[in-house]
Amino acid sequence: MRRRVSAARRRVMLGAVAALGLLSTGCAQKFPQDPLRPEGPYADKIDRLWRIVFVPAAVIFFLVMFLVVYVAIRYRSRSDDDAPVQTHGNIKLELTWTIIPFVLLLVIGVLTVQTVFEINKIPKGNVLPVTVTGHQWWWEYRYPTLGITTANELHIPTGKKIPVTLESADVIHSFWPTELAGKVDAIPGRHNHLTLEAVKPGTYLGQCAEYCGLSHANMRLRVIAHTPADFAKWQANQQKPAVIPTDGDAGTGAALFKSKGCSGCHSINGYSAGQVGPNLTHLYSRQVFAGAIFPLDEQHLTRWLRDPPAEKPMLPQNGLGMPNLKLSDQEISSLIAFLQTLH
Ligand code: CUA
Repeated sequence: MRRRVSAARRRVMLGAVAALGLLSTGCAQKFPQDPLRPEGPYADKIDRLWRIVFVPAAVIFFLVMFLVVYVAIRYRSRSDDDAPVQTHGNIKLELTWTIIPFVLLLVIGVLTVQTVFEINKIPKGNVLPVTVTGHQWWWEYRYPTLGITTANELHIPTGKKIPVTLESADVIHSFWPTELAGKVDAIPGRHNHLTLEAVKPGTYLGQCAEYCGLSHANMRLRVIAHTPADFAKWQANQQKPAVIPTDGDAGTGAALFKSKGCSGCHSINGYSAGQVGPNLTHLYSRQVFAGAIFPLDEQHLTRWLRDPPAEKPMLPQNGLGMPNLKLSDQEISSLIAFLQTLH
């Protein structure tokens, strides 16, 4: 008996804690990844659909819940041979509960199919196509019409439609820039599509939304929307080849980049052609690295180069992610001096 009471009390406590947790998460004002605050026309279309569906769904939910509780109490059995009056074949009632859901589902169905077609239409004409490839555990962005390859930060101009082709180099990922579009899976051997468009310049956060192994949670992404003029500047810089230093600390770092094997995994246009890790040609034009989880600065790069799997869980023994190259402090500082020239 005593044990039953304590189990019941524990359930009440658990419920109270869960309710408090739920309540406290409701207090935040601005989330960095908020699909309820769409920032572009494609996200707007999805948002509009869910707002239309949400109100009647909420009304029906409370109506049904109220009726369930009401009927359970009003018609509860008061004695063993107590039974409510049995009715069968009430035409009026049956028509009502057939026609109302039919009409509701028809409206929701038509609006949903319409939205699905609208957001899946691949735009043509004055657009900027981008190929997004999911890797364990970072994002690669290629601009086939501009000849640019970059990672983790997707730069786009505002007011332009960006038809995205989604690919994967290994397992299934899901590309989800929350404020700009819905999530779409990146599936090995397939090409999926979504379209992005940002109205205002800014940085929009997102992340991989399909469990893809050890560092799934560390597979974040950023979409950086520029005004068309700023985008043109970014583009011109990305199209420049890397200038490889030959002397000083940076020159030593450039040599280490090859002798330590970095070049086997990372491309630096005109210098190395590795295809496994992110292209580093203009690394220092980025704000973040390693699946967009760390700010790109000397301090974070130093810790990263000292022991990458300690900073972000990876499985280099299985070919997934960057191994610990056992670099000395001097080698790390030379490599960083080199990387800092890549802007
Ligand atoms: Cu990629 Cu989860």
